Amino acid sequence: MTALPRFTEYAARRIAKGRGNDRRDGLPPGPSAPPGLQMVGFLYRPIPFLRACRDRFGEPLTIRIPGIGAIVQFANPEAVKEVFRDSGDAMHAGKANEVLEPFLGRHSVLVLDGERHRGQRRLLIPPFRGDRMRAYGAAMGEITRARITHWPLDQTFRMQTETQAITLDVILRTVFGMDVGEAEDRMRHKLVEATRILDNPLYLIRAFQRDLGPRSPWGRFLRLREEAFVELSALFEERRREKELGGVERHDILSMLLDATYEDGSPMADEEIHHELLTMLVAGHETTATALSWVTHRLTRHPLVLRRVQRELDEAFPDGDVDPDRVQELEYLDAVIKETLRMHPVIPGVGRVIMEPTRIGGVDLPVGVMAGCSIYLAHFNPASWPEPERFDPARFLNGRPSPYTYFPFGGGIRRCIGEAFALYEMKVVLATILMRLVPVAAPGYRVGTMRRNITLTPTDGLPVRFRRRLARRTART
Ligand code: HEM
Repeated sequence: MTALPRFTEYAARRIAKGRGNDRRDGLPPGPSAPPGLQMVGFLYRPIPFLRACRDRFGEPLTIRIPGIGAIVQFANPEAVKEVFRDSGDAMHAGKANEVLEPFLGRHSVLVLDGERHRGQRRLLIPPFRGDRMRAYGAAMGEITRARITHWPLDQTFRMQTETQAITLDVILRTVFGMDVGEAEDRMRHKLVEATRILDNPLYLIRAFQRDLGPRSPWGRFLRLREEAFVELSALFEERRREKELGGVERHDILSMLLDATYEDGSPMADEEIHHELLTMLVAGHETTATALSWVTHRLTRHPLVLRRVQRELDEAFPDGDVDPDRVQELEYLDAVIKETLRMHPVIPGVGRVIMEPTRIGGVDLPVGVMAGCSIYLAHFNPASWPEPERFDPARFLNGRPSPYTYFPFGGGIRRCIGEAFALYEMKVVLATILMRLVPVAAPGYRVGTMRRNITLTPTDGLPVRFRRRLARRTART
């Protein structure tokens, strides 16, 4: 074990053993370990850290992080409801996400609050409405088929690398509206390199976001981002010219944003579109890729579930070809995805900074404190989810769960804009893979959870193998 994992293990254990804070500030109990140590636990070992805190202090609990201060973590449905019902005036999510501003830019919907947030969200929501998904399904299927053709059968490879390649191409094609070609290749290389730098959670901390020249990681990231923006501006010009000439009608999200106008009739500035496209890339690419990896992991561990998914696919697509227009009918696959997101929420929690003194879950929260809704702890709350450690997709077959006990996409006025897109993409990608191939656990692999930037991913990128499906006559990879 290298020094960092050893230290993070120590931090998580040390916190569980801690005396508990003295509650002089009237906030719920929490670890007394120094904030720097709590930060290491929270960043590098979030699951053991959260579990240790919950077991020791109950819920709600308070953790303290340097530069952020107190974060009161709630997980019971009543408190979560109070947070999600806020209109955005008493609690600011943009302020809670401000650490992302240097990555995404000051216009990103994720870091805005109040009227500016409402205005920006109004423009971003229409392209992501459920009924628009059909426009993106064919590209999602095509990209997946092209990728799996190169997978070596019966040999171990990292699933996360593959799912990221698929979801990045989906974003480039359907959100950025890029055609296959040199410009798309250049953009892909820049984005892959830039997001790789951001994999290290240290860059979530302001002190490490320093431009120390083009060779330093953060300096390199900033330069790659600028180069990507230059490429995007050229793309915007091309699209505007195309439109003037009355060219092909495009259905990608960029085209809709170029046409969108604020309530006063003004269009979005290029800089605003740059920042929103980058936001969708960061918020939508690794998250969906990670969720796909977690579903694959679960399918390798639950053969009966895998068989039932395969049966459902065979019945829906007897000729072996996945019709993206019909993936919404796959109820069992939908339940498998949802149960996976319950047990492996890709983002462990959401935060809101308190702007006016507020009472949540019976706790008085002063201005400046952060209220966190812990997705992870809520999804493992035995009062909401009996036997929470058991993987059981059937929980999701009858009706919708409450948005306050199950919220992998957050909630209220900040609920994820890309939820319908991500769930649809996951169904198209998984159906396309599972019609042809069978996932098998890599020999000797024991899964753990680690943080990559904002997401919680399987350790080692989820080593996995695939076998060709034998039973079907349509094994066309
Ligand atoms: C499995 C995949 C995904 C997960 C688990 C996920 C999860 C989340 C979560 C937890 C939030 C914060 C919500 C809150 O604060 O209450 C969020 C916000 C957001 N997500 Fe996603 N997301 C996913 C995919 C996507 C995709 C595909 C896109 C777009 C292409 C996207 C775009 C956004 C945006 C723009 C926001 C900010 C909304 C706002 O602040 O108003 N996400 N997402």
